[in-house]
Amino acid sequence: MKKIATVIGARPQFVKAAVVSRELRRRGGVREILVHTGQHYDDAMSEVFFRELEIDQPQYNLGIGSLGHGAMTGRQLEALESVLVDEGPDVVLVYGDTNSTLAGALAAVKLHIPVAHVEAGLRSFNRRMPEEINRVVVDHVATTLFAPTEAAVTNLRREGIAHSAIHRTGDVMYDVALYFGRRAATESSVLETLGATPGKYVLATIHRQENVDHPPTLQSIMNGFGGCGMRVILPMHPRTRKQITEAGIVVPENLTIIDPVGYLDMSRLEQCAALIATDSGGVQKEAFFARVPCVTLREETEWVELVELGWNCVVPPRSAAVIATAISERVGSRGVSASPYGDGRAASAIVDRLIGP
Ligand code: UD1
Ligand code: UDP
Repeated sequence: MKKIATVIGARPQFVKAAVVSRELRRRGGVREILVHTGQHYDDAMSEVFFRELEIDQPQYNLGIGSLGHGAMTGRQLEALESVLVDEGPDVVLVYGDTNSTLAGALAAVKLHIPVAHVEAGLRSFNRRMPEEINRVVVDHVATTLFAPTEAAVTNLRREGIAHSAIHRTGDVMYDVALYFGRRAATESSVLETLGATPGKYVLATIHRQENVDHPPTLQSIMNGFGGCGMRVILPMHPRTRKQITEAGIVVPENLTIIDPVGYLDMSRLEQCAALIATDSGGVQKEAFFARVPCVTLREETEWVELVELGWNCVVPPRSAAVIATAISERVGSRGVSASPYGDGRAASAIVDRLIGP
């Protein structure tokens, strides 16, 4: 029986892995070993996704989180090597662009185990982002590259990766949004709990290192939210909460700051928002799935098709006034209708390729 070792560790990877793991279980004839590196460990950053998205408990939790890039990746690499030697999988499956993705891919290739990369080919072309380094390295050691979009395929081809290794599958996050997102309307009571009225608030998330770890940028973002003229609901990533406390960032009064929420509450908040302001990769796409306009607070985005279609607008987070204006002007705006992320059957296409139809 074919054995697949899946390496996950951070919030977006639990979301992405949920639909592929479910499809692997459904098909049978294959054994998946789930390895959690421990990069994210709070209940609200990890366990809640296993419960809500019906992911099996990992066979291994390496407990390696919250270290500097080198220490985290290095310790994960060492521990993963030992698991892979013991388990001897036929393939190692990794997702996205975190340090856990990099460690999983490097541990595997050094043992001559083929690597399959879900969400291959995404590029910001900004090598100061830790995620960009992780993606480029992983794509260049992977054997099988599952590209979610046409732009991702083009990026990989430009970098000289063999055409036969690249498979355009669509985006697994769309599968998740279709399958679990529709449960949000009946199973989440987050709007009632927060006293939030559909269409009358902005949903915001901020966690990217370049935004959070630079206090003037984080303060500009908070002030931009403060000036947008609407209630802003912000489920706060622990990195951001820590920095707000340590750097003494002032939070304007129209912000409702809450702990990170589970997937169903997040979907509900997205579906009913007037606008989403974020630096998250996944949340940009989920805004589009919910057909809610999005302002991306970054210098660039990897999800270029959403900008081209008019659903997303990239606003470098330098000036509070520019952020506030971008948000208030784009409430009510709409983009062009299209399906750049496939038909909701990306997980099935990935599993076909991994184990045969
Ligand atoms: C990581 C990924 C990023 C991804 C994000 C998703 C890397 C380099 N970055 O960033 O690509 O978009 O996850 O959310 O892999 N913390 C807690 N509890 C937790 C997890 C984190 O308190 O359960 C705090 C710690 O103070 C930690 C900080 O958050 O130092 C940052 O965590 P880390 O995993 O290093 O990076 P993220 O910002 O989460
Ligand atoms: N998410 C969530 N609760 C939150 C914030 C995000 O469930 O409080 C989900 C979100 O819906 C998406 C994923 O986490 O499915 C995105 O992860 P994140 O923004 O941490 O990482 P990125 O996508 O930027 O790598």
